Amino acid sequence: MPTFTHRIFNFNAGPAMLPTEVMEEAKAEFLNYRGTGMSVMEMSHREKHFQNILDESLADLRELLELPSRYAVVYFPGGATLQFSAIPFNYLAAGESADFAVTGVWARKAHEEAKKFYPNVKSIFNGADSQYMELPTITDEIVSDGAKYVYITSNNTIFGTRYKTFPKLKKAPLFADMTSELLSRKLPIEDFSVIFAGAQKNIGPSGLTVVIYDKEKLPTQTHPIPNLMNFALMEKNGSLYNTPPTYSIYIAGLVFKYLKRNGGLTAMEAINERKAKKLYDALDASSLFYAPVPEAFRSAMNVTFRSHNNSLDSQFLALAEEQGFAGLKGYREAGGFRASIYNAMPEEGVDSLISFIKEFERTHG
Ligand SMILES: Cc1ncc(COP(=O)(O)O)c(C=O)c1O
Repeated sequence: MPTFTHRIFNFNAGPAMLPTEVMEEAKAEFLNYRGTGMSVMEMSHREKHFQNILDESLADLRELLELPSRYAVVYFPGGATLQFSAIPFNYLAAGESADFAVTGVWARKAHEEAKKFYPNVKSIFNGADSQYMELPTITDEIVSDGAKYVYITSNNTIFGTRYKTFPKLKKAPLFADMTSELLSRKLPIEDFSVIFAGAQKNIGPSGLTVVIYDKEKLPTQTHPIPNLMNFALMEKNGSLYNTPPTYSIYIAGLVFKYLKRNGGLTAMEAINERKAKKLYDALDASSLFYAPVPEAFRSAMNVTFRSHNNSLDSQFLALAEEQGFAGLKGYREAGGFRASIYNAMPEEGVDSLISFIKEFERTHG
């Protein structure tokens, strides 16, 4: 592994790059947070300084997403994966069902977890048929009778696909795992009843999860729900039912302020679309590399690509690492390469990667 004396372009899928400006801010107040004489990491979660951090972060997040008041925003521990269990517990009673669009590894895991407790849940789309390169068009016609919700993964981190536009359903509420794209583009929030995202891409440190849900559509269940998965309980306690991941919430708060200072989601979306287009254009023009996802489904966050000559793959990755392009290896099930270009990846990072790809092709192609 090469060693660096500077920050490099980190294309990891998550935990991923955070804005340097945010890291500098956290560093400057790490030992003594704004005259309190202590680090946020050492602060009581029941004390006013932390309460302010928490309240401000949630208010900023609401503002960024333009959330109507009927939506609750709650911080959960346990990563995005905990929500694979929590959502069915909160939204399904024994014998009830929900529809899952299985468009990738994370949707498959969510479906399998729900099925363990609620055997009637259904898969309404099996992405394996297209090696997960395609997404379904979900309309009321394909929603099962009696489905309590329709579950999608809005951006499939591993295969690099995303819904460019979202289903508009009348028959059942739409739930989305937005782990790898929340805060990267504007959203028609009111088309969703539940949105959740693990923090480790566009929000902050891993382990923390943001859950947004329409309070008017949360059913009251008669079965017991484990406390740390219980939406109503966690919301009633203001994300402080137990000791929350305080430092992660603080960093998320700094990220939200950074996004607000930099034009919010409209600005992020424009930059992200531009970065992704440049990279896909370069791959489409390459004779050595190609992007396997059809244009209609291409993610702006996770750009997957492959080479026509697999014998060069390990050389490409080793050279990339050496030159300070980290995290380009594709997920084991997808193979090839993946450049994750979340909000914090500067455009310069994408430009440099494109130059590196072109140079590799010139010298090895
Ligand atoms: C779309 C998506 N959902 C869920 C997860 C799982 O997140 P966690 O590891 O926080 O449980 C990931 C992880 O990268 C993801 O990309």
